[in-house]
Amino acid sequence: MTDHVRIVEVGPRDGLQNEKTPVSVEGRVAFVENLVKAGLHTIEVGSFVSPRAVPQMTDSDRVLRAVDRHPGYEFHVLVPNEKGYAAAKAAGAKVIAVFASASEGFSKANINCSIAESIERFTPVIEHAKADRIKVRGYVSCVLGCPYDGDVRPAAVAAVAKRLWDAGCYEVSLGDTIGVGTPAKARQMLRVVSADVPIANLGMHFHDTYGQALANLYAGMEEGARVIDSAAGGLGGCPYAPGATGNVATEDVVYMLEGMGISTGVDMTKLVAATNDICRLIGRTPVSRVASAINASKRA
Ligand code: HMG
Ligand code: MG
Repeated sequence: MTDHVRIVEVGPRDGLQNEKTPVSVEGRVAFVENLVKAGLHTIEVGSFVSPRAVPQMTDSDRVLRAVDRHPGYEFHVLVPNEKGYAAAKAAGAKVIAVFASASEGFSKANINCSIAESIERFTPVIEHAKADRIKVRGYVSCVLGCPYDGDVRPAAVAAVAKRLWDAGCYEVSLGDTIGVGTPAKARQMLRVVSADVPIANLGMHFHDTYGQALANLYAGMEEGARVIDSAAGGLGGCPYAPGATGNVATEDVVYMLEGMGISTGVDMTKLVAATNDICRLIGRTPVSRVASAINASKRA
C-alpha cells in the first residue's frame, strides 16, 4: 500500500470548465489563492483551448499570470495543440498538460480528431516544451468507459499512456471521465497500464458519478499508485462527457488519507472555506460528504 500521496487539485480547471455560471478571472484567482492557503501545492488553474469549445476557461493566461508567484508551487494548464502551447508559454506556464483519450468516440467529440491524430498533434508540443524546459503531464480519458463507445479495454488505455510516456510526459493521469469504474476494474486497468508506465508515474483522475471514486482510489493505492487528482467541493465535468458529474472531492480524499495516517499537509478548515467560497460564487451547495458534514456541524 502506498504511504505517500501527491494531490493534484484540478478544481479551478476541471471544476469550473463545465459550470453554467462562468467564473470571472478575479473569482478564479481567488479560488486558486484559497487553495494555496489550504496547503495544495499542485493546482491546475486553466486551459488554453478554443474559447468556442470551452468559454468558461477564457482568459486562463490572466489567471496563470496572477497566481504564478508562489515559489515551490506548481500551476498546471491544459494545452490541446501548438496554438495553445504558444499561448501557455507566453503566459509563463512551467507545466502543461496534453490530453488524449483511450476511446475514439470521446477523442473525436472532445478534440475533434482521432487518437492517432491527437498523438501526432501532441508530439511536437511535447518536443517544444522539452526545448523550453516546460514540464508536460499527459492525460488519458475514458480509461474505464466511454460515453460514446461503451467499454474500454485496459490494453487500449495502456497503448495511449505508453505513447504519452515515451513522448516525454513525466506523468500520465488516467481519467475515469464519466465515473463508471468500480474498484476491481480500476485495479485491473492500473495493473495493465503499469506494465508500460511505472505505477509511480501514473495519476488517478476519477470522476465520482456513481460514487465509486474513493473506493477506486483505495484500490489503486493498494497497487502502489500515489498521485491523486481531485477537485475541491467535488466540482467538475467535461462538456463532451454527457451525464458525468464531478471529480472526487479533495476534502473527501484528504479525510481518507489523513485517516490512513498519510499526511497531506492540507488544512481541512481552510479547504472547506475555499469550497464554500467557490460554491457560493457559482450558486451551488458543496456535494462532498466531508464539506457537508463540517458545514452541518458548524450550524448545529
Ligand atoms: P478544431 O475545431 O478541430 O480546431 O478544434 P481548429 O484547429 O480547426 O481551429 C478551429 C478554431 O479554434 C480556429 O478559430 C482556431 O484558431 C481556434 P477560428 O479561425 O474558427 O476563429 N483554436 C484555438 N483557439 C484558442 N486556443 C487554442 C485553439 N486551437 C484552435 N488552443 C480543438 C480542436 C482541440 C482546438 C477544440 O476541439 C478544443 O479546444 N477542444 C477542447 C476541449 C476541452 O477543453 N475539453 C475539456 C478538457 S479535457 C477533460 O476535461 C478531460 C480530463 O479532465 C480528464 C478526464 O476527466 O478524463 C483532462
Ligand atoms: Mg476530468
